[in-house]
Amino acid sequence: QLHRRTPAAARRPGRAPVAPPVHAAQAQLGLTDKTHDGIVTSGNAYRPAGTVKRLPIAYSPEWNALREHTKEIESLHLRDLLQDEERTDSLVREHNSLYVDFSRQNVTQTTLQLLLNLAERAKLRTKMNAMFAGEHINNTEDRAVLHTALRMPRDEQVFVDGKDVVPDVWEVLDKIRDFTERVRNGEWVGATGKPLTDVVAIGIGGSYLGPLFVHTAMQFDEQCKNLSQGRKLRFLANVDPVDVAKALNGLNPETTLVIVISKTFTTTETMLNARTVRTWLTAELGQEAVAKHMVAVSTNLKLVEEFGIDPNNAFGFWDWVGGRYSVTSAVGILPLALQYGFEKMEEFLRGAHDIDCHFRDTPFQDNIPVLMGLISIWNSTFLGRSSVAVLPYCQALSKFPSHIQQVAMESVGKQVSIDGEPLPFKAGEIYFGEPGTNGQHSFYQLIHQGRVVPCEFIGVVKSQQSVYLKGELVSNHDELMCNFFAQADALAIGKDSATLRSEGVPEYLIPHKTFSGNRPSTSLLLPSLTPFRVGQLLALYENRVATQGFIWNVNSFDQWGVELGKVLASRVRTMMHTARTRSRRITITDGFNPSTRKMINRYLDGKNQ
Ligand code: F6P
Repeated sequence: QLHRRTPAAARRPGRAPVAPPVHAAQAQLGLTDKTHDGIVTSGNAYRPAGTVKRLPIAYSPEWNALREHTKEIESLHLRDLLQDEERTDSLVREHNSLYVDFSRQNVTQTTLQLLLNLAERAKLRTKMNAMFAGEHINNTEDRAVLHTALRMPRDEQVFVDGKDVVPDVWEVLDKIRDFTERVRNGEWVGATGKPLTDVVAIGIGGSYLGPLFVHTAMQFDEQCKNLSQGRKLRFLANVDPVDVAKALNGLNPETTLVIVISKTFTTTETMLNARTVRTWLTAELGQEAVAKHMVAVSTNLKLVEEFGIDPNNAFGFWDWVGGRYSVTSAVGILPLALQYGFEKMEEFLRGAHDIDCHFRDTPFQDNIPVLMGLISIWNSTFLGRSSVAVLPYCQALSKFPSHIQQVAMESVGKQVSIDGEPLPFKAGEIYFGEPGTNGQHSFYQLIHQGRVVPCEFIGVVKSQQSVYLKGELVSNHDELMCNFFAQADALAIGKDSATLRSEGVPEYLIPHKTFSGNRPSTSLLLPSLTPFRVGQLLALYENRVATQGFIWNVNSFDQWGVELGKVLASRVRTMMHTARTRSRRITITDGFNPSTRKMINRYLDGKNQ
């Protein structure tokens, strides 16, 4: 068993641990710098004997160098750095008209180089290659991670366990094309012979957030709007009866198609909602209506059939697609192709594939998702900034922050390394966000004068819609984008007391009106928000999160942290059922702590009043 010591700084909240003097630590462990990467050990509870134990990346010389470098960076202010045009140019990256400006990050060329060295040390390239090659990098579930195969052209190949999966992907896509065309052109009709004009997509988490984000992003694109032909697409995620009422409000069962979307087909909320909506349909149309009005998307086709949905009306995907990475599988493509037509979804897939190729093939210094991931690690693990605000200046991207919140927080919000060793640093960040300018009138106060929150501004050059009121200085979209440009500078540059004094601000107000500035952000400028660009944006963030996971050396593709709550809810469910059917209260012998027992009883009493 290797001796593991807790570096002093690891105990300081939100800060990267100070690596122990690297050579001393390695000497103590009998390692030279060359053997830093691993030694064969006798194994432990997580790692079979004879396998290689890697020292946490936090004990590497590259980590130590970054840690040392924080002092230099903390002595610099973005107000000054931004005057340097050469620096700006060296921190802008462009790929296929996607423009990304990192110049408002607290970084210099040295920082970037040190981060690239860290990527090297973490074997980022090898790990990326393993992912793209279909290796079982999700080790706790023994699965490959290949959402990138979902958007590959027909003529490419990628093998999982010796089998090329691209033909399987396209078999499902062809089935979606055929089915959605038949529904959209009225060939596939409901139980009473009427065309199915509305869709309710039931699913939660990754089976909901991604499709909702893409739907919201495409809804007001002129071409997509025309293609939706007045059809409605509703999502039902929450088991809250209010969400059920909202999803079904005003819909006619005769003209409604229901899609049950669940990778596992066991998620309690989704299955209860599916039964509820099935009852809504069959109460009006009879049991046989299920065949015409309900379809499914799942990896578990056996459970789909047991639920009563014809397997011919099921659209499969595979265990190598993680739930939160599934929007480019049938999970997203089926409901969205019903709404906008299959061709638009092909454009979306092409956009995602474009970024996958950029991620896979571009040297790291020009690789946008890699740089985004590295800078996020710099901000969070080294500079102690534990959150990220995703701020689209684009109403059509209003659901993007919630989707990315799941992609990032469920992926890298981990406490142990991929080998099950406790991490000597904090991985993951708290993601949140709202579209601008709404957010400005809500939480930006804290971002400007409270905690330092690295921001990601996303703007679009050409809006999906245009409003220009005669006599106004600028159009609505220009006004929005004026704020996009202004906010990033307000954060970076700030406003000092001398300027305030020169403006005649009274002394007692100066502390309140001072902006310290030096607050980091990245600006992303998209030329437009077409389905292709939406696909690019999605893959950009997916690959950025993967980069972070590879460097922190966590498994970004499992989510054991969501399990305990599910188990406890199931225990409450059983007890609640017993209490209700026997008209009794929860007692001490039911095993809940006093707090939970009292709250459940209060809830049960309230229901009985
Ligand atoms: O509870 C978390 C989770 O497992 C997510 O990872 C997943 O996206 C969601 O639940 C829904 O799961 P399913 O698609 O299997 O219903």
